[in-house]
Amino acid sequence: MRLCKYLKVIFMVLLSATIFTVTVHKVSYEHFKNLVNNSMVDHIFPKEPCACVERCLAASDDEWFAKRFRKDVSPVLALSNSILPEHIFKWWQSLQSRSTANYSQVIKELFSVVPGEEWYRDAGPSRCRTCAVVGNSGNLLGSHYGPFIDNHDFVFRMNKAPVEGYEKDVGSRTTHRIMYPESASHLDNNTHLVLLPFKTLDIQWVTSALTDGSIKRTRFKVINQLQATRDKVMVMHPAFMHYVHNTWLHIKSRRSYPSTGFLVLIFAMHVCDEVNVFGFGANSKGTWHHYFENTPKFFKRTGKHSGGIERETILELQKRKLIDLYTGW
Ligand SMILES: *[C@@H]1O[C@H](CO)[C@@H](O)[C@H](O)[C@H]1NC(C)=O
Ligand SMILES: *[C@@H]1O[C@H](CO)[C@@H](O)[C@H](O)[C@H]1NC(C)=O
Ligand SMILES: *[C@@H]1O[C@H](CO)[C@@H](O)[C@H](O)[C@H]1NC(C)=O
Repeated sequence: MRLCKYLKVIFMVLLSATIFTVTVHKVSYEHFKNLVNNSMVDHIFPKEPCACVERCLAASDDEWFAKRFRKDVSPVLALSNSILPEHIFKWWQSLQSRSTANYSQVIKELFSVVPGEEWYRDAGPSRCRTCAVVGNSGNLLGSHYGPFIDNHDFVFRMNKAPVEGYEKDVGSRTTHRIMYPESASHLDNNTHLVLLPFKTLDIQWVTSALTDGSIKRTRFKVINQLQATRDKVMVMHPAFMHYVHNTWLHIKSRRSYPSTGFLVLIFAMHVCDEVNVFGFGANSKGTWHHYFENTPKFFKRTGKHSGGIERETILELQKRKLIDLYTGW
């Protein structure tokens, strides 16, 4: 009786493994074709300066940067690039929770609701796009960076970071808000939602949250109907997240992955010509807290993330004048 039960389990495992492998092989070939196409991107956008006076990130000939920065990796999911090679799919599925949902179907449903074209492939000699990446650090308090931050073409903010009441120090515009289901908040109609997907369910959630609101829980109870403009919604590419993990941070451990702040910084470097960074790190007293929380609390800096390597990398970017890091007060 018992043996029978075990055999059944083993059979099911083998069966699902076979299905998985078959799907993935089909997928890898498609991806290979995409890679061939992506390798031609360099010819379409040669390394020529952008129109910015201060700095043109993608045209930098810094060797340290060139080893890490891969212009051909798409930061945003699109219909044409949504296929994931097996090793990346596996890595992505290991972040939070494995899913039995059909990934291709999930993508198809997503792009029946939000735009499926590639975003931000418009780099070139006539473009100068300046971006502010605004973290949530308490070092923003008293900085008076607000007007300067607002003066950028794009202003990226993360999760629930509020602007009301903090305009003087953090600015008032938000062109892009990066969040995941568990950190979601409603958006005004000028703001792009950039979903950070840590699992298949997160992509299903955004589709649901913009339509019938059927998904009410992910890891816990989440907003099920989100106010956001559908035409402005995008999803960070899981392969991009993997690239940040692998190429920028060289993380070997399976149990850690890049923090939201670091992902957004590299995302901005792929989307913009000039990147200025605010609200990262501790304040001048060495305290780590959110600018919108009254009682500074010391929170674990690393946790699932590789805080040390991220910090060093950000400082290196600053040292090499690839970004400007504003450390506040
Ligand atoms: C590149 O993409 C285009 C359209 O997206 C497609 O028609 C073409 O066959 C692709 N090229 C290769 C080499 O796969
Ligand atoms: C997954 O979804 C795609 C697209 O809807 C479909 O073509 C494919 O047959 C599905 N695969 C499985 C294993 O159900
Ligand atoms: C955007 O939101 C504002 C205020 O919520 C509203 O008055 C306006 O009509 C909206 N615009 C569009 C195009 O939906």
